[in-house]
Amino acid sequence: MKKICFAALAVVPLLAWGAQAQAFKPGSVARDIAPQMAKPAAAFEWAYPVAPANLPKPDPAATFTATGADPAMKLTAKQIGNSFGPPDWFPKEHAPLPQIVAHGREPHVPACALCHLPNGNGHPESASVSGLTVPYIIAQMHAFRDGERTNLRAPAMIEMALDINEKELREAAVYFSKIAKSQQKWIRVVETSRAPANHPGAGGARFFDKGAETVPVPPDMIYEVAEGDEVELRNDHVGFVDYVPVGSLAKGRTVAMGNKGQMRTCGSCHGDDYRGHDEAPRLAGRSAYYLIRQLADMKSGVRKGSALGKMKDVVGKLSDADILNVAAYLASRAP
Ligand code: HEC
Ligand code: HEC
Repeated sequence: MKKICFAALAVVPLLAWGAQAQAFKPGSVARDIAPQMAKPAAAFEWAYPVAPANLPKPDPAATFTATGADPAMKLTAKQIGNSFGPPDWFPKEHAPLPQIVAHGREPHVPACALCHLPNGNGHPESASVSGLTVPYIIAQMHAFRDGERTNLRAPAMIEMALDINEKELREAAVYFSKIAKSQQKWIRVVETSRAPANHPGAGGARFFDKGAETVPVPPDMIYEVAEGDEVELRNDHVGFVDYVPVGSLAKGRTVAMGNKGQMRTCGSCHGDDYRGHDEAPRLAGRSAYYLIRQLADMKSGVRKGSALGKMKDVVGKLSDADILNVAAYLASRAP
C-alpha cells in the first residue's frame, strides 16, 4: 500500500506540469498564469523581486519629467505606467522604435519598452535584451510560449508570447539586437562589506532609503539597487548598482575560468569577455539578479529547452555560492 502511495506521489508533478502547459492558451492573462509558476529556491528568493503590497499611490494629477529630458515633456504616473505607450524620454538617443516596442498591441502584448525600456537594458525584475542576437530573442519568446520558462517573473512574457506574431517579434528582435555597445553599460558593481540601506519598492526593484544608514552585505546576498528614484519614471539614463560580498569577484572569476578545471570556461561558449557568441548570449554587464535567476532556474529545471543542453553540465556543477559569485563577476564586466 505504502509503495503505491509513493509511486502516485512521484507521478503527480508530471501530470500537474502537463495540465499547466495545457492551460496556457492565447488569450491567457498574466495574473491567471501567475499562481502556476514555480517557487524560487530559498537561497535566491531575493533575486526574484516582487513589488511590496500597499505601496503609496501617486497623486493622479501630479506630473513628472525625467532629468535630462525635454522639460516640456510632463507625464502623470498613469502615463508613465501606460502598458501601450510608456515614456520615451530620450527619443534622439536610439533608432526609431518599431510599433511593437513603443506601443505593443492590445490587449495581450504590452510595449516591450514598458519593461525593457527603449534602450533594452530593463530592470532587475525583467531582463536586459540589448545586444542579444535576433535568433536568440526569437527563441526565448518561443520558450516562454512553450512553457519552458516558468519562474515567477515569467507570466507577463508568457501572456504576450502566446499572442505576438512572428513579424512583430522579428521587428522587436532586430531593434534590440542593434542597440550600440556604448548604450549597454547599465550595472555598476561595488564589492563591499556594507551597503547604503535600501528597500524593495515599485516593481520590486530596490531603492535607497533616505538616510545615511548602512547595512551589512551578507556573504550570500547581493543588493541590486536603483541608482536613483527616477527608475520609477522609467528614466532610461538611470541604471543599477550591485553591492556584492567581499571576495565574490575573485571567486566568480575562478568559476568563470572553469572552476579549477571542473568544467569548460564560460567564455568558451559565451565568447571573449563574455560578450556573446553564436547561440550563447552576452553575459557581461548584465543584472546579477537576472543572471542568478537563470542559473538557478536551469539548475532546478524551471528553465528548460533544447538549446540548454550544453548549459546543463555546467549548472549541475555550480553550488549556490558559485552561482552568486559568478553572477557578481559577470555583472562587473564591461558589456
Ligand atoms: C510587463 C513587463 C514586460 C514586457 C512588456 C516585456 N517583457 Fe520581456 N521580460 C520580462 C521579464 C520579467 C523577463 C525575465 C523573466 C526571467 O526572469 O526569466 C523578460 C525576459 C525577456 C527575454 C529573455 C531575455 C534573455 O536573455 O533570455 C526576452 C528575449 C524578452 N523578454 C523580450 C521581450 C520583447 C520582445 C517584448 C515586447 C514584445 C517584451 N519582452 C516585453 C518582462 C517584460
Ligand atoms: C558549452 C557551452 C556553454 C558553456 C560552457 C556555458 N554556457 Fe551558458 N549558455 C550556453 C547556451 C547555448 C545558452 C543559451 C541557451 C538557450 O538558448 O536557452 C546559455 C545561456 C546562459 C545563460 C542565460 C542567459 C540569458 O540571457 O538568459 C546564463 C546566465 C549562462 N548561460 C551562464 C553561463 C555561465 C555562468 C557559464 C560558466 C559557469 C556558462 N554559461 C557556460 C552555452 C554555454
